[in-house]
Amino acid sequence: MAVERTLSIIKPDATRRHLTGQINARFETAGLRIIAQKRIQMTRAQSEGFYAVHAERAFYNNLCDFMSSGPVVVQVLEGEDAIQKNRDIMGATNPANAEDGTIRKDFAENVEANSVHGSDSPETAAEEISYFFSQIELIG
Ligand code: CMP
Repeated sequence: MAVERTLSIIKPDATRRHLTGQINARFETAGLRIIAQKRIQMTRAQSEGFYAVHAERAFYNNLCDFMSSGPVVVQVLEGEDAIQKNRDIMGATNPANAEDGTIRKDFAENVEANSVHGSDSPETAAEEISYFFSQIELIG
């Protein structure tokens, strides 16, 4: 299996409840390394740009409002099979469908305030990482 990098976001519902440390402990315990990290508050425009792929979806406006409503932690995780491993640790998008022991099952409030985001493919990961980080900010 290849070493990959993936973008992870700890969303406003989780930073508000001081869950950053607990969430990142799960990634690190599973062998994912945090090779870049920053706490930011996205503008509405930055949020719209990040989720542009969902622009036609009914939930887009509310999602952009939510993601710019408070601090987020954007970070890059690196490790074997990091993209799928991160998704497994996060659990299903809707916490109602997430398996026991996943971040979303344990922490998410609902499908929108679902605590974490993770890239869904190598192409998306590369795009999403470059949205927030320059090459020299990735300290592998
Ligand atoms: P995320 O992985 O950040 O990617 C898109 C986000 O849209 C998703 O997580 C959810 O938080 C959010 N979202 C809000 N409503 C829905 C919905 N009905 N179906 C799917 N995603 C939704």
